[in-house]
Amino acid sequence: MDLTQHIRTIPDFPKPGILFYDISTLLAHPKAWRSCVDQLAETVRTWKPDLLVGIESRGFLTAAPLALELNLGFAMVRKQGKLPGQTVSHVYELEYGTDTVEIQSDAIQPGQRIVVLDDLLATGGTMSAAIELIEKVGGIVAGVACIIELNGLGGRDEMTVPFHSLIQYDI
Ligand code: PRP
Ligand code: MG
Repeated sequence: MDLTQHIRTIPDFPKPGILFYDISTLLAHPKAWRSCVDQLAETVRTWKPDLLVGIESRGFLTAAPLALELNLGFAMVRKQGKLPGQTVSHVYELEYGTDTVEIQSDAIQPGQRIVVLDDLLATGGTMSAAIELIEKVGGIVAGVACIIELNGLGGRDEMTVPFHSLIQYDI
């Protein structure tokens, strides 16, 4: 199935000049969404993960159904201050300033093979931060995958582990 038929673009969101790739229409179409999850599963299973991780918030949508499909557990990487109990943080650089991602301290056991999912890779900053956080707590990132990859922002070149995307757009 051609998933591009189910991804909508919205100009000037969230800022003027930005073309937003909206997966709402993909999520709303059960056959297309099933195909998307199946296509991700095909690659992700070859990395033999013990656990999947989704990045807040649209990465949760991508990782959770895939975890069920592959009969794996699923853990959340969230923005600062959202997770209860003991957490581990990782601060990363943005174009202006910094941001922080967190995971619960007991979410990953040292040596576990982790695959990280998000909906979209642009600069790769978000995904790189998640990889660094998982490595900090002793996880082995076996691979990372997204539904959409925006070519031209250098995200793929930032990846330090195997990376797979289902759809690529030149921007
Ligand atoms: C978007 C997208 C990715 C990230 C990609 O998330 O869902 O997570 O940006 O950009 P990057 O490769 O340049 O880091 P956003 O921060 O808009 O938050 P959301 O998922 O909560 O909507
Ligand atoms: Mg996101």
